[in-house]
Amino acid sequence: MVRITVTAAAGPYPVLIGRNTIDALGKEMDAARLGKRRILVSSERVWDFHGARFRTIGADKTPILIEDGERYKNLNTVARILDALVKAQADRSTVIVAVGGGVIGDMVGFSAATYLRGLPVVHVPTTLLAQVDSAIGGKTGVNHPLGKNLIGAFHAPSLVIADPIVLETLPRREFRAGLYEVIKYGVISDPALLDRMRESITAIFNRDGDAVAPLVSASCRIKAQVVSADERESGARRTLNFGHTVGHALEAVTKYKQFRHGEAIGYGMLAALAIGVARVITPKSLYQEVESLITQLGPLPPVADISAKEVFAAIVRDKKVVNGTLHFIAASDRGKTVELTDVNEKEIKAALKKIGLRA
Ligand code: NAD
Ligand code: GLY
Repeated sequence: MVRITVTAAAGPYPVLIGRNTIDALGKEMDAARLGKRRILVSSERVWDFHGARFRTIGADKTPILIEDGERYKNLNTVARILDALVKAQADRSTVIVAVGGGVIGDMVGFSAATYLRGLPVVHVPTTLLAQVDSAIGGKTGVNHPLGKNLIGAFHAPSLVIADPIVLETLPRREFRAGLYEVIKYGVISDPALLDRMRESITAIFNRDGDAVAPLVSASCRIKAQVVSADERESGARRTLNFGHTVGHALEAVTKYKQFRHGEAIGYGMLAALAIGVARVITPKSLYQEVESLITQLGPLPPVADISAKEVFAAIVRDKKVVNGTLHFIAASDRGKTVELTDVNEKEIKAALKKIGLRA
């Protein structure tokens, strides 16, 4: 089992990665004195597959089950979670355990942040994307029809358990979506990850534990290091937004129906690399390397029917615009980033067209 400690303002918390770590959840929670009462929140789908593994953690018998998928990541679903917590008479001695992908994690985290002004939350991420990214770092929230993750709160978890066994039931498309976020870590911080992915692509697709586990732990280490240094995203954490400026806008203009989050980030990374190449700050070879890796993973959903003009409008509404300035992360080399604050409309639209959007 790999144990990584994340530093947060509310106190450090462990991320445990390894096969059968879910079986240690109850013991780990006991050791951390987490909750006299434990309430699990998950989705029907995830619970059908994996619910039986949570019987021994001493939680309420009936979990709260909600819809997941990006289109349900909104205040209505959060209201359903809060209603269920009120009905269950959850109190300040209660710990909420989120079992699911990033959508469940973000919504349950936000509910935990707001119910009784904040209850502890434990994340058990069940998608590759959630294991390598969303379960760590304390960002929680929901989408607004006009923009991605516009409503939310920082609420660090008390414990994160990433068990690769649950990934065996993950649909192939969802698994691939998580791999794009792994590519992100390769580009922004650890080029060896890119090499590893290219060299063991077949084993990764076969979900061979020896191939997948190192990707998860390497990604978690990077995420943990970055959010420990900059929990509230005033500096280093912005590098994690590589590919997200365009990615979030693509999700919003397609009403969260056309792309898996990771797929949108796949396009977003290509657009960011294209902007860097056009400015001669990103090596062309890096664009080609990432493009080829993305192609190897399989086709991204088509974008030819999406308007660059609309995507640009969504970018301007994004929360990465601070005080009228867009903070845009570009790659200056393999494993290195640079923050640009003067990326203009013309450059963004040119990059969107390069990756296949219409004017
Ligand atoms: P998701 O949560 O929608 O899950 C994708 C699908 O996989 C769902 O249909 C779900 O039911 C299913 N699923 C989950 N686990 C399964 C399993 N083990 N077996 C079978 N099916 C399973 O999507 P996601 O990609 O996990 O998360 C995307 C979300 O994460 C986005 O909303 C994104 O904004 C958010 N995110 C948040 C952060 C953060 O720091 N908070 C970081 C990255 C992404
Ligand atoms: N996924 C971006 C972040 O956690 O900051």
